[in-house]
Amino acid sequence: MSVDIVVIGSINMDLVTRTERLPWPGETLIGKEFHTLPGGKGANQAVAAARLGGSVAMVGRVGSDPFGPVLLDALRQDGVLTDYISVDPTFPTGNASIWVEDSGQNAILVAGGANMQVSPEDVDRAGTLIKTARFVVLQFEIPVPAVRRAAEAAREAGAQVVLNAAPANAACLDWLHLVDFLIVNESEAQALSGLPVSDASSGLAAARSLRERGAAVVVLTLGHQGAWWVGEEEGFFPPFNVKAVDTTAAGDAFVGGLVVALCGGQPWQTGMRFASAVGALTVTRLGAQPSLPALADVQTFLA
Ligand code: RIB
Repeated sequence: MSVDIVVIGSINMDLVTRTERLPWPGETLIGKEFHTLPGGKGANQAVAAARLGGSVAMVGRVGSDPFGPVLLDALRQDGVLTDYISVDPTFPTGNASIWVEDSGQNAILVAGGANMQVSPEDVDRAGTLIKTARFVVLQFEIPVPAVRRAAEAAREAGAQVVLNAAPANAACLDWLHLVDFLIVNESEAQALSGLPVSDASSGLAAARSLRERGAAVVVLTLGHQGAWWVGEEEGFFPPFNVKAVDTTAAGDAFVGGLVVALCGGQPWQTGMRFASAVGALTVTRLGAQPSLPALADVQTFLA
């Protein structure tokens, strides 16, 4: 079995509570409705790419608790190959407690569980898959040694390495030369570059400095302020204006959209516009995977 896109990363059950506003430390608030929804940055990016027409496999771990099979089923229903996801005998399936304000803003606390047991050996077991892939997509909700091994294996196999450095982890600064596309948001760019990022102009400076550290292309997403592509060529992409219901997984949707577009041979300018549209549509709906759009939704939106 071979696929174009291999995502190596986290698989979480998201425990989502809507609330008028986020609680302060030490405060108890009565929230609104509660949902359990499939999430995890890795799984979200895999589903985002699959819904947009990509052929996708996921590498990772779930626990042997009831959340595991639910999350595996969710991936399979979207056509993601799950043969390289193992069931950890000891650690529980990852989960994320997510509070979503009426404004659409959120706060997320991840309990990594089985995700934090993903190892370089898990990556090696997926060697055949990586050897025939065109893009390998990585994030930092699994341990750094596994992410680095995946980047090395992908590079050796001639696949393009996409690193969404979320949450930010400075370890990658030592091996950014392995990365073809580094995708970061405002806070991640700031943490990795050490430069303040508050708008398009300061974002460009941070993205350029990260590129100087070795990534071939840096893509910086600035939410409602747009996005930068910083490679040999540079371009700024203004945001699509939508009403935000929940920003969860907007970054994951963007990553999935960009990878599918580039994998399909689209020029980077078209790919960035497509990815921005995918991200924008995602914030108009509640939840991570339930909010990821299908290709037809994006085409209609862009038309
Ligand atoms: O990027 C959004 C994701 O971050 C959520 O689905 C949650 O699981 C956390 O991993």
